[in-house]
This record gives sequence, structure tokens and C-alpha cells, in this order.
Amino acid sequence: MHDELRIGICSERDIVLLARQFSSGDRGVHAFRYTRQQDGRSTYLIAWLGEVPVGHLDLRWQGAEESLIAQQHLAEHAELNGIVVLSEYRSQGIGRRLIAAAEQMARERGFREACLGVNIENARARSLYERLGYRDWGHGVVEATWLLPDEHGTRHTEQVIYLRKELDNW
Ligand SMILES: CC(C)(COP(=O)(O)OP(=O)(O)OC[C@H]1O[C@@H](n2cnc3c(N)ncnc32)[C@H](O)[C@@H]1OP(=O)(O)O)[C@@H](O)C(=O)NCCC(=O)NCCS
Repeated sequence: MHDELRIGICSERDIVLLARQFSSGDRGVHAFRYTRQQDGRSTYLIAWLGEVPVGHLDLRWQGAEESLIAQQHLAEHAELNGIVVLSEYRSQGIGRRLIAAAEQMARERGFREACLGVNIENARARSLYERLGYRDWGHGVVEATWLLPDEHGTRHTEQVIYLRKELDNW
């Protein structure tokens, strides 16, 4: 566990650093999330060790968006999206801290439930979420499609199961 870990909200000047650490210099996805944050649709949380961004989580305020059925069932949920920790820092509790920070922020906004989608083949990530109290949403596997915010307009499709969690003490 990293005592010196700090979790903050993304600022414009962080985008270059995030691109360098996470995306081989491509700013696309980070700039996209920052723009949405500025529009009030999400909060882009960044985990820092000193000056190094080591993890990120895009906390969305308008429910799950990637498929119609998710929009129908998860509209009132805060959605935890884009959860990534740099590979050399994994399994040290950073993902858990990012998720806890997101849940606390959601509670403070009055959300009663949080949700997230996980690729059906990502058993390790799913087991982490289940240990943190997330449970199958009960509507099966969905094909989640979104436009990657790169300059090519690439579409990305995954088989996803959504998990949800009640946020107590809201
Ligand atoms: C999933 C992830 C964000 C968790 O962050 P973390 O800092 O490693 O999480 P914690 O240290 O709090 O918890 C560790 C747990 O995360 C999961 N995990 C660790 N490495 C993982 C990996 N490469 N892929 C998926 N899950 C992983 C495991 O359940 C692990 O528990 P274990 O160490 O007992 O096996 C991180 O591992 C990661 O970025 N994985 C690759 C991207 C990914 O799969 N993102 C999730 C998309 S829904």
C-alpha cells in the first residue's frame, strides 16, 4: 500500500503527462475525458505517486452509456469507467484506492448506486470488483460499443457484463 499516493481531479496540464505514461504520447482519450469533465458529465480521477500519474478512473455522472440496455437500467448510477493502473504498479492497492475515491465522490453527489462494465474475459478485474462489493446486474452480457476518441474515429466493441453496488452511508 502506498501511503504517499494522492488522488486528484485531472487538470488540463496533466493531459500531456497522462498521454506519455498511458497512451504512447496520444492525448486523444485523456483530452476527450477532460473535455467531458469540463462539460460536467464526468470527473476524471488521477492517482499520483509524486509527479508520476500511475492510475486513472473516469467517473461518469450520467449513467452507463455504451449500450441501450445499460442506458435503460443504469441511468441513475454513477459509472466507473476507464479504470487503469500502470502495469508496474498493479496489485499494490492503487486500483482499490481509485475506486474508493470514486465511490465517495458519488456518495457526496447523492448517488445511491455505482456501476461498471467489465469485459467477460477479464476475470482478474472482475474478482477485484466483486471483492469490493460489486455484483452482477442481472441482465446478461451485452455488446458495448463506443467510439474511441482517436483521430481515426475507430469503433470498439466488447462483450461486457455490468456490475453494480449500493453505496451505503450516502
Ligand atoms: C484492474 C486494475 C485497474 C486494478 O488495479 P490494481 O492497482 O492492480 O488493483 P489493486 O492492487 O487494488 O487490486 C489488485 C487486484 O486487481 C486485479 N488485477 C491485478 N492485475 C490485473 C490485470 N493485469 N488485469 C486485470 N486485473 C488485475 C486482481 O484482482 C488483483 O488481485 P490479486 O493481486 O489478488 O490478483 C489494474 O490491474 C489494471 O489496470 N489492469 C489492466 C486494465 C484493466 O483490466 N482494467 C479494468 C477494466 S474494467
